[in-house]
Amino acid sequence: MNLHESEKAAGILRSLGYEECDREEVADIILFNTCCIRDNAERRAKGNIGAAKVFKRNNPDLIIAVMGCMTQQDSAGEAMAKKFPFVDIILGTNNLDKLAECVEKVRNSRKRSVLIDPCATPEIREDTPVFRTSGTNAWLNIMYGCNNFCTYCIVPYVRGRERSRTPENVMKEFNRLIDEGYKEITLLGQNVNSYGKDLGMTNGFALLLEKIAAVRGDFRVRFMTSHPKDFNADIADVIASSKNICNNIHLPVQSGSDKILKLMNRHYTRDYYMSLIQMIRSKMPDCGITSDIMVGFPYEEDEDFADTLDLVNKVRYSGAFTFVYSPRKGTPAADMPQVPPEVSKRRIIELVNTQNKIVKEISKTFEGKVLRVLCEDLAPKGEGKVCGRSECGRMVTFDGDKHSIGNFYDVKIVKSQSASLFGEVVE
Ligand code: 5AD
Ligand code: SF4
Repeated sequence: MNLHESEKAAGILRSLGYEECDREEVADIILFNTCCIRDNAERRAKGNIGAAKVFKRNNPDLIIAVMGCMTQQDSAGEAMAKKFPFVDIILGTNNLDKLAECVEKVRNSRKRSVLIDPCATPEIREDTPVFRTSGTNAWLNIMYGCNNFCTYCIVPYVRGRERSRTPENVMKEFNRLIDEGYKEITLLGQNVNSYGKDLGMTNGFALLLEKIAAVRGDFRVRFMTSHPKDFNADIADVIASSKNICNNIHLPVQSGSDKILKLMNRHYTRDYYMSLIQMIRSKMPDCGITSDIMVGFPYEEDEDFADTLDLVNKVRYSGAFTFVYSPRKGTPAADMPQVPPEVSKRRIIELVNTQNKIVKEISKTFEGKVLRVLCEDLAPKGEGKVCGRSECGRMVTFDGDKHSIGNFYDVKIVKSQSASLFGEVVE
């Protein structure tokens, strides 16, 4: 979501005549797109903004701007303006459309802008230019905001309520991206499964996927993120029956303990989650299922963590993002009794080790199989090697060059190493 928002900011800056450069020393403008989902993201952003001061000393015309979730937190914009007097522009999540105006203002009069609109239901802007930088993949927002208020999460406070783009606008952009030659489109939303509810649609996401499945061409579609409480059999049926929609579902569980799920306000139980996994696998046995999992949430005891480990062992995710709970000011969980850091540390190590072992075992089962892979890029290591993902989301490295990028290949897996697969193109 943030990467795509940076592409929008880049689109706006290009419309003003700016071009990307690779060193801060030669930049005319430095724009920080921030995240505040966990404390370490926020600390890193603050550190990087602070470090940019030196570039202004050598280049007084340099414009420094900050945007994104961090500025939108309660009174954070004003605090940031005070802490970083050398920052020229501070924009809230609802104010990206003012970026061009603010840059012009600084250029013309060196006047500073701090714009943080607190509206929770701002109108969707359809006219923001986008400068895409993600190669063969294009991100596509189908909705913005979140209504779920998981008790640990800052997102609903900084991104407002759910607002869906109309199916017509989504399809218009989708078809344009296919015409432009993108081979993979990733639909974005905090909870894509509730797409269209705010437009009065019932089962809007399944209907949208049906429209997308009807588009002809050699491309694939992914989507994120799914919320287990809103994922259903209709959505799974469309994915299972469509050639172009990847059998790959990111379905964050967060915890395997019913007690913790309730405290998190997740609106599902462990049994319900497991029934979803079973439903998905009965329709798509090879579906890659991934998750977000958190440890150290308030009140988490050893038996709750054991429930999480047990769930991880039963589901056998093909990949998981694992986090230590980080208290976010203004969210209900920040006022609950906190788990000692050394306990969280012990648990995250055990969780990561368990998940890594599972991924390694799953990787081994791919050896000898043929996977359809979209070549995305040159491999980071190895001369004459390229890499790309299988439909189920596994990264595969194989022989190729820059001309292979953007093409689909059937690749026979010959070796696996932790999460990585290595293969040979089948003629
Ligand atoms: N602390 C740790 N992890 C968090 N996430 C969201 N909020 C927090 C928090 N306060 C994780 C959740 C979510 C992912 C995007 O980030 O697992 O699914
Ligand atoms: Fe945060 Fe929960 Fe919304 Fe995801 S669904 S963005 S975790 S509040």
